[in-house]
Amino acid sequence: MDFFEVITNRHSMRAYKPDPIEPEKLQQILDAINRAPSAGNLQAYEVYVVRQAGQRMALAQASWGQDFIAQAPLALVFCTHPALTVGRYAQRGVNLYSPQDATIACTFAMLAATALELSTVWVGAFEDDAVWKVIGSPEGQTPVAILPIGYASKPPRLTPRRKLDELVHEM
Ligand SMILES: Cc1cc2nc3c(=O)[nH]c(=O)nc-3n(C[C@H](O)[C@H](O)[C@H](O)COP(=O)(O)O)c2cc1C
Repeated sequence: MDFFEVITNRHSMRAYKPDPIEPEKLQQILDAINRAPSAGNLQAYEVYVVRQAGQRMALAQASWGQDFIAQAPLALVFCTHPALTVGRYAQRGVNLYSPQDATIACTFAMLAATALELSTVWVGAFEDDAVWKVIGSPEGQTPVAILPIGYASKPPRLTPRRKLDELVHEM
């Protein structure tokens, strides 16, 4: 798949086969994450790899019953790590750069997964404390996205977009 096919083929998937993800594919996804840009190259985020069924179930519960999280064989949880940026960028690092670093990393993971014929869905609706309990991340690291990854068990639902001339503004 060339890059633009990856962009076109990425769709949110909310139904997964139980088939595991090949370790080489997971490694490629993690390597892609680590190539993501970040403010000052500080990489002010952390990634938690959740494989265990009970923990995936707990993530689904933490996400108001989004059960497809438990269906996928694996989920990545992206958290901010503001302590890595506060020294250089103060509050702008904490409030803006760290969440941006984490979300760009998650975007790289989504696109890498798509290129590897895997499916994902970005999950942002969850209770922070309940996610914290599952991953046991240190105080100060806020979860910003859960990304279940796996093989789709049904075709994706295609979604519309705003017209380009509505969202792009020539100045
Ligand atoms: C910040 C963010 C939060 C999201 N949270 C959820 C979520 O909690 N549950 C879910 O099913 N989809 C969630 N989505 C996926 C969107 O619903 C989806 O990207 C959008 O409908 C467009 O569809 P597409 O990804 O198939 O293009 C989220 C996406 C983003 C970017």
